[in-house]
Amino acid sequence: MKVIRTKTYEEMSYEAAKLLAAQIVLRPDCVLGLATGSTPIGTYDQLVKWYEEGNLDFSAVRSVNLDEYCGLDGENDQSYRYFMDHHLFNRVNIDKANTNVPNGKAVDPEAEGARYDELIASLGGVDIQVLGIGYDGHIGFNEPGPAFIKPTHMVELDPSTIEANARFFASADDVPRQAITMGMGGIMQARKILLIANGAGKKDILMKSLYGPITPEVPASLLQLHPDLTVICAVDE
Ligand code: PGA
Repeated sequence: MKVIRTKTYEEMSYEAAKLLAAQIVLRPDCVLGLATGSTPIGTYDQLVKWYEEGNLDFSAVRSVNLDEYCGLDGENDQSYRYFMDHHLFNRVNIDKANTNVPNGKAVDPEAEGARYDELIASLGGVDIQVLGIGYDGHIGFNEPGPAFIKPTHMVELDPSTIEANARFFASADDVPRQAITMGMGGIMQARKILLIANGAGKKDILMKSLYGPITPEVPASLLQLHPDLTVICAVDE
């Protein structure tokens, strides 16, 4: 595990973007595992900047996103498909057909999970997976629970997650109660993992995840076993 502590969000974003850019340069048709939330926005902005300056080419890049709210389609401005289009995909030369987000409108979430895992396998797996971390230690939407769940699956969101994400919606009542998330298997099988965290409020859960016991009650703690984990964080006051 490599931990890079930065002083500011901007620095965190720049360091994270460098790793993703390096991956794209190394393998132009790489598979990026992408995340939503407030944390990666600056990272995506930096990638867009390098693209606009002519230094980064997304034309052959493929991507898979971690998760999607149940019941929201890509037109909904709270969906994670919309988020990705808005913050990254519409701003670079990636082929939208090569970008993948779980289908939040799937009538059979179990079948959607199986389809998504087969898709990831058919792409040859994820080269580098970006992760944020929730205040409860979730990664993707893998919430604390009695067991690590391996495949892509539907989850009931934790009340603390609903509360944390309510800031993006008109009210907490509008936050979907369920989501489809890549499971711990899909995440752990990525060849590299890049965990980013910002803000002093994330420090405790980050320390617990990286140095505490490995337990499904803190899903991110499983990352301790990943052979190629980089953590970039701006969590000091
Ligand atoms: P945030 O969310 O980036 O908005 O803090 C992180 C997460 O819940 O995974």
